[in-house]
Amino acid sequence: MRKVLITGCAGFIGSHLAERLLQDGMDVIGIDGFVDNYDASVKLRNLSAIRSHPRFAFHSSLLADKLGEPWLDEVDLIFHQAALPGVRSSWGTAFADYVAHNLTATQSLLEACTRLQKPPRIVIASSSSVYGSMKEGALDESAPLHPVSPYGVTKAAMEQICRVYVEAHGLHVVMLRYFTVYGPRQRPDMAFHRFFRQMLRGEPITIYGDGQQSRDFTYVSDAVEANLLAARHAAPGDVFNIGGDREISVLEVLHLMSQLANVTPHVVHLPAVAGDSRRTKADIRQAQAKLGYQPRVRLEEGLRLQLADLRAHIDGPSDERGQ
Ligand code: UGA
Repeated sequence: MRKVLITGCAGFIGSHLAERLLQDGMDVIGIDGFVDNYDASVKLRNLSAIRSHPRFAFHSSLLADKLGEPWLDEVDLIFHQAALPGVRSSWGTAFADYVAHNLTATQSLLEACTRLQKPPRIVIASSSSVYGSMKEGALDESAPLHPVSPYGVTKAAMEQICRVYVEAHGLHVVMLRYFTVYGPRQRPDMAFHRFFRQMLRGEPITIYGDGQQSRDFTYVSDAVEANLLAARHAAPGDVFNIGGDREISVLEVLHLMSQLANVTPHVVHLPAVAGDSRRTKADIRQAQAKLGYQPRVRLEEGLRLQLADLRAHIDGPSDERGQ
């Protein structure tokens, strides 16, 4: 293995992935365009443990501006994490940015890879939001795509453009459908980060709708492990659900969180937000069988680790501009 490129390297999952790859002895190139909807200083802090690592090179740049660089020819493996995330903030005029960062930028990356002497393997971050709301049971990867947010539409389209490049150009692209990832450094607009922050600051807990919506929350180190397994074992065009230890409702998880933080939460119910799935539950049998993927971190343990991380940074910048 020569070099690994991580796009979106300063983000939540990208920064954890970078740390893990450096620990495993890889040479890592990171790119981040800081296009996310939160403070760049928070994202830079995500890299603080590795910024001066001798095997880490970081480019603060949009992906499109780096696709002509000569070092791209030396990269064996790309983890494409860069995206404009968040389902609830993807409506209105924001949609054009979602298309640009999630679809057009991915196509530019794929196109650039077709021009390389030895195109690298690519593992791409997709999302459970491509399914929309799940009715009952767990969905496997053959289920029809029915996104309920503009963001989910961009991720579904991104998967299609990947498939086209696999079939027409023989690129080795693998797609991972993450199910609501959490843990230390979770984006400030996401539920667990908001709830813990609100608890620690004595603010009301903002629940969208009745709080009965449920998720298959996935701990970040499990998502990282899924990326490594996919790079090793997946075939071109493979798509995998990457889920966590169980499905749980937002109100139930809030109960666990308040016990951990030792806080009696004051809950306010805000109107449900368009674009939110009612429930998600991953059928991970394909990932288990083909990748050997198994979620290892139980929700209670993952929440404890996220709370400890947030406590360490609660007085620092946590600017959250999106919803
Ligand atoms: C998350 C990510 O934001 C997406 O980028 C990603 O694609 C998706 O997971 C996925 O992996 O499928 P979401 O499931 O909305 O999307 O994750 P959270 O922001 O953590 O929200 C979880 C639930 O908590 C949602 O039902 C949301 O409505 C609720 N929530 C969130 C609240 O009730 N109050 C809040 O203040 C924040």
